[in-house]
Amino acid sequence: MSHGPSAPARPHSPHAHHEPYAPVFTPGSARKAELDTIIARYPEKRAALLPGLWMIQQERGWISEEAMTEIAQQLDLTAAYVKGVVSFYTMYHQHPVGQHFIQVCTTSPCLCAGADDVVKAFLEHTGCKELGLTSPDGKFTVIEVECLGACGFATPVQINDDYVESVTPGKVPGILSSLK
Ligand code: FES
Repeated sequence: MSHGPSAPARPHSPHAHHEPYAPVFTPGSARKAELDTIIARYPEKRAALLPGLWMIQQERGWISEEAMTEIAQQLDLTAAYVKGVVSFYTMYHQHPVGQHFIQVCTTSPCLCAGADDVVKAFLEHTGCKELGLTSPDGKFTVIEVECLGACGFATPVQINDDYVESVTPGKVPGILSSLK
């Protein structure tokens, strides 16, 4: 039985060519020491999974399959378990993303206040062709997320670690130019 054609390269990956994976938690490295310190705080190694994934993302900008396997080995977990956790949280990136990662709340209260138009404005002004894809200059990725906990300030947008509240389509160009 044929298994069909192999999967295409990720369309927005700047790393389409395959480089060998360089581990994050090499023996003697600062990251390995940091991870071991966290592991030592808990009765079970798996408790260090979320901070360990965060460390990988800080180092690499995203969490590859190879990185999931690496942290799984560090914490005596399966790669499938790690992937389940990574895919549950929108804060973890499974693909390379733009320098500015833009998350727009489109849960009902914000939708009623026009969040859809805010999303459209971000896509248009960043040059991102669609949600989840990175702009050709590598600067922006736009996604929709569930409630950001700022429902009284619709539409809230999280850009990397910063919040911008009461965003309207008209404010989008100014917000983007302040990022450059
Ligand atoms: S519904 Fe948008 S922040 Fe809560």
